[in-house]
Amino acid sequence: MPPVPIRPLTPADHDLLDAAVRLFRDVEVADHTPFLADPATIALVALDDGGAVVGWAWGLRQRHAAGYSQVQLYEIGVDGGSRRRGVGRALLTAFRDLARAEGHRRMWLFTDEGNTAAKALYESEGGEPSPHDDAGYWWQLTPA
Ligand SMILES: CC(C)(COP(=O)(O)OP(=O)(O)OC[C@H]1O[C@@H](n2cnc3c(N)ncnc32)[C@H](O)[C@@H]1OP(=O)(O)O)[C@@H](O)C(=O)NCCC(=O)NCCS
Repeated sequence: MPPVPIRPLTPADHDLLDAAVRLFRDVEVADHTPFLADPATIALVALDDGGAVVGWAWGLRQRHAAGYSQVQLYEIGVDGGSRRRGVGRALLTAFRDLARAEGHRRMWLFTDEGNTAAKALYESEGGEPSPHDDAGYWWQLTPA
């Protein structure tokens, strides 16, 4: 069981996405519909007991030129007061499980070379450092 509920966002989840964007990006977006309705979008939020957003992870379904599909985890974040309680791990694994269930061959992401927290999380969940990028990680989800 994840430490908090992890909720995949649907095109109807304008308010949850809005709360996450305000919390983690500090911006106002007039209309979240183009993002939420895009078939490429994958977006998850972590909710506390009161239903408030305390974490998010979002990314993209992609076609690879080599003939398969993959997902990029573009951003993952947990609110400062909710870190080190397993929320980031729950978001990462839920994102990976969803990608695997959809049949994508790989999940990949970039992080910053100095982001020790993120790198420790990715490595503890089987992420393999990319041979191409110093701070990239990838997961094989289905046989090549
Ligand atoms: C990276 C981040 C998402 C981790 O979220 P979290 O909820 O604190 O992570 P978890 O509690 O699930 O921790 C899972 C594992 O990650 C590693 N980890 C998390 N925070 C860490 C830290 N500050 N230092 C070292 N390792 C850390 C540990 O291996 C941890 O397992 P453990 O608690 O059993 O030791 C969070 O620190 C964050 O939002 N950072 C700012 C945004 C960011 O940098 N995102 C990644 C961009 S690529």
